Amino acid sequence: MEVIQAIQNRQSVRKFKSQDVPDSDIKKLIEAAGLAPSGKNSQNWYFVAIKNHELLQKIANVIKEKNEQIAKKMDELDEEKALRFRKFAKNFTLFYLNAPVLILTYAKDYFPSGFYEYHLIDAPRHLSDKLFQRNPGMQNIGAALENLTLRANELGYGTCWLTSQNYAADEIETVIKNEIGFEKEGYYLTTMMALGVPEDNLKSPRKKDVEEIYTLIK
Ligand SMILES: Cc1cc2nc3c(=O)[nH]c(=O)nc-3n(C[C@H](O)[C@H](O)[C@H](O)COP(=O)(O)O)c2cc1C
Repeated sequence: MEVIQAIQNRQSVRKFKSQDVPDSDIKKLIEAAGLAPSGKNSQNWYFVAIKNHELLQKIANVIKEKNEQIAKKMDELDEEKALRFRKFAKNFTLFYLNAPVLILTYAKDYFPSGFYEYHLIDAPRHLSDKLFQRNPGMQNIGAALENLTLRANELGYGTCWLTSQNYAADEIETVIKNEIGFEKEGYYLTTMMALGVPEDNLKSPRKKDVEEIYTLIK
């Protein structure tokens, strides 16, 4: 498959067939992710693939609990907004439950060039904050995950990149730590990627025309 074909075919998949994804294919996706470029070749990523549905259910449960905690506090301020949040936040837990695999991506902090130097010269705080806004460490993760999604597409799989549930990331990390003993010093959860064989005829939202996102200067 041509790279452009995988790019054009890729779409977020939120409905999966019940078909399994062989372990060997998951490994191919992670290999592709690991070939991505990263600032100073830091490769500040780590992946945990979960096929165990009991564990997926436990992750969904902690997200639900966190939703309810937030919604209850919102109830005191604005019941209508709390109701809307309850309806919307349900999606954060359900997309991946019918996916045969969920890949968690952990990242380690990456300190942008200039950060230590700013510290040394006692530069104003907003300057180093700006460096983090451009966040090369998280750009690394994006590059790795895009590789993963394109390779998935090439192998006939679909993915959905999930970050909305990140307000419950600490709780999810705790479940993973308690249930499978996984913990990696300095790493934190950034993303969950649902993976599986896509259902047919899924739609994607429109993309901006190239003229809207591009300026050429000669
Ligand atoms: C960083 C990032 C975070 C995303 N988070 C979510 C999410 O939490 N839930 C979800 O359903 N889709 C999520 N998506 C998928 C986007 O909604 C999707 O990429 C976008 O609507 C364009 O559709 P397409 O992927 O089909 O082209 C995320 C995508 C990215 C790149």
